[in-house]
Amino acid sequence: MKISVIGSGYVGLVTGLCLAEKGHNIICVDKDESKVSMINSGDAIIHEKGLEELLLQNLKKNFIASTYIEESVLKTDLSIIAVGTPFDGKKIDLQYIKEASAAVGRSIEKKNTYHLIIVKSTVTPGTTDDIVIPIIKEFSNKEVGKDFDVGMNPEFLREGSAVKDFMSPDRIVLGSNNDKSNKLMREIYKSFSEVDFINTNNKTAEMIKYANNSFLATLISFSNEIGNLCASQSDIDAVDVMRGVHMDQRINPILENSNRVITGITSYLQSGCGFGGSCFPKDLSAAISFGKSNNNEMKLLSAVMDINKDQPMKIFDLINNHFSDLNNKNITILGLSFKPDTDDMRESPSIPIIRKFLELKANVTAFDPAAEKEAKKIFKTSEINYSKSLSESINEADIIVLLTSWPEFNELHKLINSKKGTPLVVDGRRALDKNNFKKYVGIGVN
Ligand code: UDX
Repeated sequence: MKISVIGSGYVGLVTGLCLAEKGHNIICVDKDESKVSMINSGDAIIHEKGLEELLLQNLKKNFIASTYIEESVLKTDLSIIAVGTPFDGKKIDLQYIKEASAAVGRSIEKKNTYHLIIVKSTVTPGTTDDIVIPIIKEFSNKEVGKDFDVGMNPEFLREGSAVKDFMSPDRIVLGSNNDKSNKLMREIYKSFSEVDFINTNNKTAEMIKYANNSFLATLISFSNEIGNLCASQSDIDAVDVMRGVHMDQRINPILENSNRVITGITSYLQSGCGFGGSCFPKDLSAAISFGKSNNNEMKLLSAVMDINKDQPMKIFDLINNHFSDLNNKNITILGLSFKPDTDDMRESPSIPIIRKFLELKANVTAFDPAAEKEAKKIFKTSEINYSKSLSESINEADIIVLLTSWPEFNELHKLINSKKGTPLVVDGRRALDKNNFKKYVGIGVN
């Protein structure tokens, strides 16, 4: 199929390249000229496993990037809208969705044949039907259900494994308002035959995405609340407590051969210094504000966000028992990105934690296998010393604070034990074995 993807950011580019790999002809559109020329020169712009390979394999065969939206829409049978939907502090900001809808509308005015538009961006329920469709109608002077349709197909892509998640999805949600558009949407995913499809209406498709991310974020804040209670007591470790919860066979079922299935959900049921990233904080905030504007207060999700806002500061409660003053103390931060395998620092707990250390006049050294470049956009160069290796980073440390569970940090105990002095290890992710350290504190244990 000939498909234009409007918005060549994280979601748009991954979607475009994966669909090209599946044999479709793709034009990825973006108004940012430098981004488009970088993509067309073979630079995948984002740090994502397997993406550059897909670009190099498909570029100029059945994939190209363009700044010309009208030409791209007219050359294709359907357009996927994958622009950003940030949170503006009060509610979801639909400015880019509206701009893209207007541009697609203006373009299809010149088209003689039917065009399908699919919203892939995460949008609050009702956006596709009540905002996108009316805008396209207005700018195209065409009739919905006859000249064009608009469907909704949310993404479930995790950073770091987005290509794999797209190519081997756990489900494909197709929102549509009639059979014709549903059939066309299924056609896009024809080669994904083994997967479960959920065919529903647009509003339900929009809601599924919010429900899913809210559920996962709730598990994290739940685990953190339990962990904080454990830490308020002596002799309870949240890691052992949560291990006990994980063994509930409704979470990790026992097979007939007595082996356990360790489900993916297990890793969201562990306490740490809080969730971040480009999705959970933004989507939960949007869901809470959407609920409020519909007279439906989201009490649980508000608590999930409140717990998460406080969680990074728990690091300082742990340190306070050992150091009364951090002035001029050498702090080594291990991990800056919001999770391992990405350089993304958006909403990363490392940001408020480092700011607090700086406020307390500590000397901050950081090591992250991927995110140093991103950190340099957030902090002044005079604020943080960056190390090139784990061993270099801990040389002078009084306190070592692990904030991202990169596998590289698993060897920390070997390096510390061969070093002079005994730094305090603060495990913000419970990624280390506490028995390997002389001075250890961790989230969820006192
Ligand atoms: C998330 C959803 O998982 C994805 O389906 C959606 O489309 C976009 O939002 P992403 O933000 O990449 O994707 O991250 P995810 O891997 O789910 O991590 C989100 C937060 O959960 C992070 O703060 C991470 O540290 C935490 N997390 C992640 C865990 O606590 N345990 C895990 O196993 C994975």
